[in-house]
Amino acid sequence: MTSGVLEVENLTVQFGAVRALADVAFRVQPGTIHSVIGPNGAGKSSLLNVLSGVYRPQQGSVRWGGRELTGLRPDQITRLGVGRCFQNLSRRTDQTVLDSIMLGRHALMRHAVLAHGFALPVARREERVHRERVAEIAEFVDLSRLLHVPVAELSYGHQKKVDLARALASEPRLLLLDEPAAGMSSGEKRQITQLVRSVVASLGTTVLLVEHDMEMVMGLSDRITVLNFGRLISEGTPDEIQEDPAVVDAYLGQPAEDRR
Ligand SMILES: Nc1ncnc2c1ncn2[C@@H]1O[C@H](COP(=O)(O)OP(=O)(O)O)[C@@H](O)[C@H]1O
Ligand SMILES: [Mg+2]
Repeated sequence: MTSGVLEVENLTVQFGAVRALADVAFRVQPGTIHSVIGPNGAGKSSLLNVLSGVYRPQQGSVRWGGRELTGLRPDQITRLGVGRCFQNLSRRTDQTVLDSIMLGRHALMRHAVLAHGFALPVARREERVHRERVAEIAEFVDLSRLLHVPVAELSYGHQKKVDLARALASEPRLLLLDEPAAGMSSGEKRQITQLVRSVVASLGTTVLLVEHDMEMVMGLSDRITVLNFGRLISEGTPDEIQEDPAVVDAYLGQPAEDRR
């Protein structure tokens, strides 16, 4: 598992005639919250897909603690300590909360456990350790009392928290969040904001946050990168970003309901 600065350089991702990312470059300091904002189609999810190994860029590099991530498979990147939450929840809904969070532990499990299940004694011991850690993570995100409930029966906000817990279960040093507050009530938004804050404060995790809720973004971020049509149009502190005419013009000046 690695740690350190995240360095994105000259990143270009092309789908036919569409440039999802055009020569994008920025750095994220360890232990900080760095947000990426911009209108729908700006390239935010494509960026997270490159960082997590789902997309391969046509050009550019991503280094995390000095290691090149482009070219690695998603599972290799997870094992290096990069965890991810998804914009759209996949609904493997027959699973319990416990099983869903346990999925995040798979990245850390030995091959023997994955190949033979928990039948071997050594594997059973390992399973116990994993289950204890999952229980701690569930406690951390306030899902303890729902551990044995099928995910399908939970509210949307709780399902998003299960996805966060699943990502935390792989013990990430860098956590990628794609619109964690989308579709949440204002109470749930406050809770998830507090959770992200405590992940950074108590675990020292670095967070890369993609989000349309500007209260959350401006309240949480150390720095913000703004994308528009795949290009980086601004970068700075929340105060600098809110005053940048290019950002107001491309994004912040739009009515909130048109932003996503
Ligand atoms: N897998 C893909 N195939 C084709 N086009 C894609 C794919 N992923 C993203 N795009 C295109 O790239 C652009 C950026 O999309 P995306 O990264 O999802 O933006 P955002 O997350 O900022 O809304 C859009 O024009 C989108 O249609
Ligand atoms: Mg997106």
